[in-house]
Amino acid sequence: MSNKIVVLGVTGSIAAYKAVDVASQLTQKGIDVEVILTKAATQFVTPLTFRSITARPVVTDMFQLASPFSIEHVALAEAADLIAIAPATANIIAKLANGIADDSLTCTVLATAAPVVIAPAMHTGMYNNPVTQLNLTKLHQRGFTLIGPLHGRLASGGIGLGRFAPPDEIVTTICHLLDRKKDLIGKEVIITAGGTQEAIDPVRYIGNRSSGKMGYALAAAARDRGAHVRLISAPTSLAKPLGIEVIDVQTAEEMSVAVGEMISRVDILIMAAAVADYRPVKMQKEKVKKADQRWDLTLERTPDILAETASCTPRPLRIGFAAETENLLHNAKVKLDQKDLDLIIANDITIAGSGFGADQNQVVIIDRTGCIEELPLLNKTDVAQRILDRVVKLLAE
Ligand code: C5P
Repeated sequence: MSNKIVVLGVTGSIAAYKAVDVASQLTQKGIDVEVILTKAATQFVTPLTFRSITARPVVTDMFQLASPFSIEHVALAEAADLIAIAPATANIIAKLANGIADDSLTCTVLATAAPVVIAPAMHTGMYNNPVTQLNLTKLHQRGFTLIGPLHGRLASGGIGLGRFAPPDEIVTTICHLLDRKKDLIGKEVIITAGGTQEAIDPVRYIGNRSSGKMGYALAAAARDRGAHVRLISAPTSLAKPLGIEVIDVQTAEEMSVAVGEMISRVDILIMAAAVADYRPVKMQKEKVKKADQRWDLTLERTPDILAETASCTPRPLRIGFAAETENLLHNAKVKLDQKDLDLIIANDITIAGSGFGADQNQVVIIDRTGCIEELPLLNKTDVAQRILDRVVKLLAE
């Protein structure tokens, strides 16, 4: 871990004293720990405490003229391999979620391209408040890693959700992220995500239940492993991930055109999107009025984007998904053969808490040789990493 720089942001929570342990453990691993204290944090712990532990100057004021960093928020934001905010109050979470930059810590986070880890600590009511939850969701969708909070005894004396995660766990997560593989550097990757929408009339469309979470997780994971990622996204409610070029599309046809324009220049195509297989033959120009008891819609096949890329030269690695409700392995293998794929990721969408819309997914990875790797129920972020592990192996072969 030597040569790594972690910026540790400490905010105004009673759990700030535990951040001293975090700083100490990171320093003992050989990491340069640059501490930034918010004004409120200095009420709980002193800069001298951290300075003594890290042997580094501590930033408390944006306008410190004697600081060794010329313009701290730029210098630290650029130097950081990772920024950890531990503990993170509801206040800092709200500021970061909304791009407020009114002190050294918020400026640094806003200016950085490094991964950011947040360990919230607060009163249960503040944590459960929908506005805090919304802010945390925004940060999570932007690729921030959240650790905790836990259920347990709080400073108020009560028991509830909001307790700071154990420093050991925070340090382990930080080290894991710092150690992350950079095995896709120089690779051009296209990932598709979300569910396409096929217009019936100006108001209605044929869609599906895809949330886009799996594709977005893959895009973020590939980015973190060093790839240049372009994400072709059907409509989703997800925030655009940082550092990734997002091409918004609506229909299967538009997705097909976008993939077709880029495919000759890519090393890897991952089609995580739930592409409509059929679309209305004709889109009605005006809203269709309620009239007869029956309305028969005539549908036609959409282009099979993955199948169409099979003959592409130079040939990229091509990975597809198979969301099934029955005969999972058989159906997935048929698709792998029909579309001539390198890998297919099969998921049984009837498993509770997995698949469409969920944060977790339980998948089976099947390759050309018929080799089957069954993964347990995992967060989509972890599923993404496991898929990319297989992609990297295939590239090496
Ligand atoms: O044939 P099926 O829709 O079940 O195959 C699923 C896989 O094929 C997914 O990877 C999906 O993104 C892709 N697909 C496609 N074009 C379609 C339909 C699906 O590329 N029209």
